[in-house]
Amino acid sequence: MLVDGRVRSNVIASQDVHKRWGGVVPELASRAHQEHIVPVVSEALRQADMAKEDITAIAFTQGPGLIGALLVGACYARSMAQALEIPLIAVDHIKAHVLAHFIQDHEERSVPQFPFINLTVSGGHTQLILVRSALDMKVIGTTLDDAAGEAFDKGAKILGLSYPGGPLVDTHAIAGDPSRHTLPRTDPPDLAMSFSGVKSAFMALVRKGSAADPDFIERELPHLCAALQATIIDQLLMKLKRATEEHAIISVGLSGGVSANSELRKRAALRADREGWDLHLPPFAYCTDNAAMIAMAGHYLHLAGEHAGLDTVPVARW
Ligand code: KG4
Ligand code: ZN
Repeated sequence: MLVDGRVRSNVIASQDVHKRWGGVVPELASRAHQEHIVPVVSEALRQADMAKEDITAIAFTQGPGLIGALLVGACYARSMAQALEIPLIAVDHIKAHVLAHFIQDHEERSVPQFPFINLTVSGGHTQLILVRSALDMKVIGTTLDDAAGEAFDKGAKILGLSYPGGPLVDTHAIAGDPSRHTLPRTDPPDLAMSFSGVKSAFMALVRKGSAADPDFIERELPHLCAALQATIIDQLLMKLKRATEEHAIISVGLSGGVSANSELRKRAALRADREGWDLHLPPFAYCTDNAAMIAMAGHYLHLAGEHAGLDTVPVARW
């Protein structure tokens, strides 16, 4: 719930169903959304100390994402907009990750100056975005294959870690030496990125090690995690630096699930000191998927009068 542009509540239903199956099973994800949507909205209202009738507009994620889960949110939001006779606002999930920088809650936070370059790193997307204003964004670089979060998750799966593996790789890597195992560095042309090669090389490394020593993963776990993580971060920061140079911009943001990664945050901050960037990272709660960022994006669209029709349908791919 957003009141006067400020977050009053940000409720997330636990996604344990994915853990159990080692990944996202689309049908189970949709069913979990159906089960959770009513209690989650009630809880958000309760925490914000509001009644349904106090809501003046409702924003929902139109996409990109899993169509079944998107449909649940879209149907709920459309029904609510119709029943309460309030505007409906359709939000682009990826733009919302960028606008997470502007979320204010009980704390006052500094926000990036426009124009800024945002590196949006999630489980499904990895994009460099030139952000000219809250509603004017241009993708200037993207991954050619896997997303950075996907590389974390697939790498973790190779190591037998549960889903989503990104946070586990982050934790195990703390005790690891990133230079003990080498993985090839990938540098596609200009601002393009690629992470599928890292995953394949990582699988080959683990297979070879495990063939020679059945305890390879157990013994080397922190070092393997550190190597995988460092390789992904190297490419992300290299491309981010290139983007800032090409566009002569020092205002920089990092957001999306992978921006919760402790090593990425640390190294980005060091790089910012060296390069003179004005770096912004959302607090953890607003890095991974959250309702507050959708509400924030909805707030800007609402101010611009960009409302959606009650027949708006979700889109899996933007
Ligand atoms: O933005 P997000 O919550 O959902 C999508 O839009 O995809 O991002 C989820 C991704 C997953 O791949 C997850 O493993 C990764 O973010 N992630 C992390 C960390 N926390 C979440 N990756 C590395 N280190 C983390 N601490
Ligand atoms: Zn996301």
